[in-house]
Amino acid sequence: MTLAAALEAAVGPEHVLVDKDLRASYETDWTRRFTGTARAVVRPATTEQVAGVLAACTGARVPVVVQGGNTGLVGGGVPGPEPGDNPPVLLVTTRLDELSALSPAARQVTAGAGVRLAALTARARAAGLDFGVDLAARDSATVGGMVATNAGGIRVVRHGSMREQVAGVEAALADGRIISRLDGLAKDSTGYDLGHLLAGSEGTLAVITRLRLRLVAPEPGRALAFIAVRDTADAVELLAGLRARLAGVSAAELCFAAGLELVARYLGTPVPLAGTGGAYVLIEVAGDTDPLDELLAALQECDQVLDATVASSAAERARLWQLREAHTEAISSAGIPVKLDVSVPAGRLAELVGRLPDAVAAAGPAARLIVFGHLAEANLHVNVLHADAEAVTGAVLALVASLRGSISSEHGIGRAKATWLGLSRSQPEIDLMRAVKAAFDPLGLLNPGVLFPAAPRAAQAGAGVG
Ligand code: FAD
Ligand code: MLT
Ligand code: ZN
Repeated sequence: MTLAAALEAAVGPEHVLVDKDLRASYETDWTRRFTGTARAVVRPATTEQVAGVLAACTGARVPVVVQGGNTGLVGGGVPGPEPGDNPPVLLVTTRLDELSALSPAARQVTAGAGVRLAALTARARAAGLDFGVDLAARDSATVGGMVATNAGGIRVVRHGSMREQVAGVEAALADGRIISRLDGLAKDSTGYDLGHLLAGSEGTLAVITRLRLRLVAPEPGRALAFIAVRDTADAVELLAGLRARLAGVSAAELCFAAGLELVARYLGTPVPLAGTGGAYVLIEVAGDTDPLDELLAALQECDQVLDATVASSAAERARLWQLREAHTEAISSAGIPVKLDVSVPAGRLAELVGRLPDAVAAAGPAARLIVFGHLAEANLHVNVLHADAEAVTGAVLALVASLRGSISSEHGIGRAKATWLGLSRSQPEIDLMRAVKAAFDPLGLLNPGVLFPAAPRAAQAGAGVG
């Protein structure tokens, strides 16, 4: 049987897209920076169909690129730029969208890998619970993609990253076998935690098909403040002061004038407190009851506050959140940025912010730098427009490594940073990671060129679709 026939047998002919126009929207990533060619886009709807696609591709020695909602920012979910003589099949998981077995007692739910974050959150809320991770791409990002990148977002300070929400994983291996631990056991000490190994694996080990996810208690009371401070060092100190006074800090975000001005132009709305500070902090507090008075009292006690505006209604809170969440779209509306997401020890965040402009300017004099991020994790989103991607990436990541930071704190390594993995991982670690990859995917067919720099191709040509 040809590969084309095997794929059609696995998922049905209408879900094997070979036509160039039908493939196009899947072949370019959200940022428009990464694009490549797939021999076909294949859209399975069940675990067995995913396994069938993988077995067929392994039989034909054809690589597979895995894609969820295609909101990733490091090029990991689209084919590489060089199709060569053996272009990949692009396996898209969005039809794996079943939500089932929500257990209020266990506070868990089973979700297909293609379930969108917003759908999961809505389902949890309808059951009187909530989901612990939230991010601006909520309408498109899938839970499979979020686990595969160990996504973070705006609630990490409260509930941790995506890895911490995983209570069980089902996945299809490259050869078509299935591993499944979806019983949601509260305790399990039977050896290696293979599910957690897939968190952050970026599609290089297996295709996640279903997840058992933890849910959290709802916190209906919310208060939000947008605060001007003198600089990044004061922002860090302010957060420490607020966390000492408030039990329920549920978000702490950092912005600067350059990004806020871009957002204001993009949204066509003025920015509150404009010109007041050298940095701006968005603090949200959550609890069972309205925490507004508590937040106001705490702000009054903190010397770092130059000025603040506090949202007292849901509509005002949404407006303030938009100032932070619209950064990604506002930046992309100004060009195709180089996007880096880095973290450093909290005590070095101010130094990183202070040294970034020189590092970026040295890599490209015309470069335009826009920085924002998740303050509580000292996770900075470094966006650079009008710059040579290789030069600016090298300069920024070298600076981060010199501060003992991570070259990716939540978006993953993808294709964008594979060459620089050694800045954050030692050679023994990389050797072990490659050994794990070889154990899961001995032929190197899953997401080649993602996480590790592209290796000599194990698979050879000869299995064209059609
Ligand atoms: P994709 O982009 O399709 O894929 C991402 C990676 O996961 C790829 O390597 C892919 O191969 C792999 N993958 C996808 N599905 C599977 C699967 N089922 N099995 C195995 N591997 C798989 N990220 C954050 O961490 N925090 C944020 O605050 C945040 N905000 C964002 C805001 C905007 C506006 C946008 C556009 C993106 C944002 N992101 C953020 C990035 C993005 O949403 C996350 O990386 C998300 O986790 C990717 O999910 P996805 O379904 O779109 O995955
Ligand atoms: C965010 O925190 O808004 C995201 O991670 C997206 C981005 O980095 O642009
Ligand atoms: Zn982020």
